[in-house]
Amino acid sequence: MSPTRPRLIVSQHLLAAAQARIARDYDAPPAPDHKLTAEELVAQARAFRPDAVLVTSSTPVSAATVAALPDSVRVIATISVGTDHLDIPAIRARGIALTSTPDVLTDSNADLTMMLILAAARRAKEYLALVAAGWGRGLGMDEMLGTQVTGKTLGILGMGRIGRAVARRARGFEMTVLYSNRSRLAPELEEGATYFADPRAMLPRCDILSLHMPGSKDGQPVMTTELFGLLPRGAIFVNAARGSLVDEGALIAALKDGHLAGAGLDVCRNEPDPDPRLLALPNLFMTPHVGSATVETRTDMCMLALDNVDAILAGRPALTPV
Ligand code: 8YV
Repeated sequence: MSPTRPRLIVSQHLLAAAQARIARDYDAPPAPDHKLTAEELVAQARAFRPDAVLVTSSTPVSAATVAALPDSVRVIATISVGTDHLDIPAIRARGIALTSTPDVLTDSNADLTMMLILAAARRAKEYLALVAAGWGRGLGMDEMLGTQVTGKTLGILGMGRIGRAVARRARGFEMTVLYSNRSRLAPELEEGATYFADPRAMLPRCDILSLHMPGSKDGQPVMTTELFGLLPRGAIFVNAARGSLVDEGALIAALKDGHLAGAGLDVCRNEPDPDPRLLALPNLFMTPHVGSATVETRTDMCMLALDNVDAILAGRPALTPV
């Protein structure tokens, strides 16, 4: 083992290909058998004095965590596009480089968003429950009908890379795409989508609403009782972004009283222990934060994070700095 190899720790076990690359190129302790808490990450960093720390969105890196890291740490590479689990000013203030993994997970997240839209609109949870119970009786012509997706109007809140990838897929379903964003996109990025500076003006026109904005750092929801109320009755709501964007009490009320016909969530506030009231709703289809969970995408995310670490430790610019 070369004494000059850089030292690296990971907050959770990664894909085998990434672990093999780490074993080949770094001095690293064995990958943990569980997701490290912030305290465990700090304890390991203080004991091992790594040059680089790899985390995922499951391990928060607060100002206190940053302050407790040893001064050996030169780079924190998060294996995520989201950065709401990181105190970026605190990381910058300590002079630690920070990188994330944008782009490589765009398609995977947009694919999952389409799955949530279709599943919520076409009552997948109720159909699966019926089939799991043995089916046993043919459905009537007007029984358990869903909402057609093709040709509907899709509203997108947050028209970044993932929002635009969802818009492209929606066009395949002949949907009209509306969006609201901090600023209007250039026409070549809009690709015919209609911009609304004020989401309140957009929501009443949406048959389906999908969130693609960064998580709210202060926990303040974007989707409140007021905003859900602006959607037309029978709308479909989808969130594959961050649970902190949604007032879950307001969502539950809207699903219970039929204001929303259905919802699809890949994220929630108290991951991995969702509010049981969400899970009890027949018209809420939920997946366990798997927007990036394909072999291809998770491999690319791990490798991009390691490419970033390699670059920074070699004195080169990061590929995808935050
Ligand atoms: C997670 C994500 O990072 O990229 C993001 O922001 O939320 C996900 O890709 C991934 O599930 C690992 O925690």
